[in-house]
Amino acid sequence: MSSGKREKVINTGVNTRVIHHKGNFSQETGSIMPPIFPTSTFLHGNEAGFDYTRSGNPNFRILESVLSDLEECQFASVFSSGVAAITAIVSSLKANDLILCEENLYGCTVRLFEQVFKRFGLRTLWIDFTNSNLQEVIANHKPSMIWIESPTNPLLKILDIERICNISNRMQIPVVVDNTFATPLIQRPLKLGATLSLTSTTKYINGHSDALGGAVCTDSKEWNDKLNFAQKALGLNPSPFDCWLITRGIKTLPLRLERQIKNASKIANQLADKPIIKSVRYPFRNDHPQCKLAKRQMALGGAIVTVTVNASQAQTYSFCKSLRFFKMAESLGGIESLVCHPATMTHASVPKETKLKIGINDSLIRFSLGCEDIEDLTADLDQALGIIS
Ligand SMILES: Cc1ncc(COP(=O)(O)O)c(C=O)c1O
Repeated sequence: MSSGKREKVINTGVNTRVIHHKGNFSQETGSIMPPIFPTSTFLHGNEAGFDYTRSGNPNFRILESVLSDLEECQFASVFSSGVAAITAIVSSLKANDLILCEENLYGCTVRLFEQVFKRFGLRTLWIDFTNSNLQEVIANHKPSMIWIESPTNPLLKILDIERICNISNRMQIPVVVDNTFATPLIQRPLKLGATLSLTSTTKYINGHSDALGGAVCTDSKEWNDKLNFAQKALGLNPSPFDCWLITRGIKTLPLRLERQIKNASKIANQLADKPIIKSVRYPFRNDHPQCKLAKRQMALGGAIVTVTVNASQAQTYSFCKSLRFFKMAESLGGIESLVCHPATMTHASVPKETKLKIGINDSLIRFSLGCEDIEDLTADLDQALGIIS
């Protein structure tokens, strides 16, 4: 498979790049913000090359250009959600192909592979990618694709992306990295050898919990063509308005993330000192099993903290419900702090025995840190912990 890899020349800092886009499609008016193009169709033969919004729209193109600048890669394709982006990639495979998957993936990725694509003949094998005999496993199974997340959802396992890609690239196996938890500001999987870097733009990239979106970045023209084909052929396109919202949200990504990460690191340390907290997982804490790797691979520790409490499921639930500023809700990455009970929420569709095997039990809680004042967040956690202690 040809990678079609070319280095993108980036001359400006990332904070500048997310604010100043190359093209706004607003030459006639001089508008600083791009217009929204709520049109399903375009005049045949127009100069910009658009024909029908299922296969392209100026708002898609603007967002794709910002995302490829952020990832420092050649191509980006946008979709209606993270799951639509996953669907686009997997739809390029064929019956009997095998995807070698990290055993702790986002629950709906697992559901999509096991409950939808399996019916079309896709095979999956779930392994722990922190295992050292990776080379042997990959060589033995000869998968058509490797699918990983790092940090993983919700356990925050850190996988050695460069090592996995080195092994896979030698065998010409494409590697997909779901980079939703890290964002390209913390880690750029393509620079570590990945073929495709996938993001649910619903999360940090948009950051305001008011739009759904997904994106796949790559340096391979061949893969970009396949993804654009899937967008059009499967109808996985986003709406122009959602792309506009995400393009607006991305402008404050570095600012938001800086604050969210500071809050996460403080909350992780605060929780670690509480007797009712059995364990805390945060990639940059010394007690994280892959802390050294995390510090090598990631620029910062991220804004998610996962804990296990010494409490029953009922107590764990009532803790989550008692929080005032951490809203108990699916999703993550927005400016508002959220708390989630993965076993019954994001990973509800994963079979119970699988969840227990990989460590998603009833006492596990995932916090997505927002931009609130840290004093209010710590006080909120203290009052809710008081209720169950
Ligand atoms: C790691 C990860 N990948 C993909 C997705 C799917 O994204 P979306 O909800 O935008 O379809 C999610 C959603 O939570 C996620 O956490």
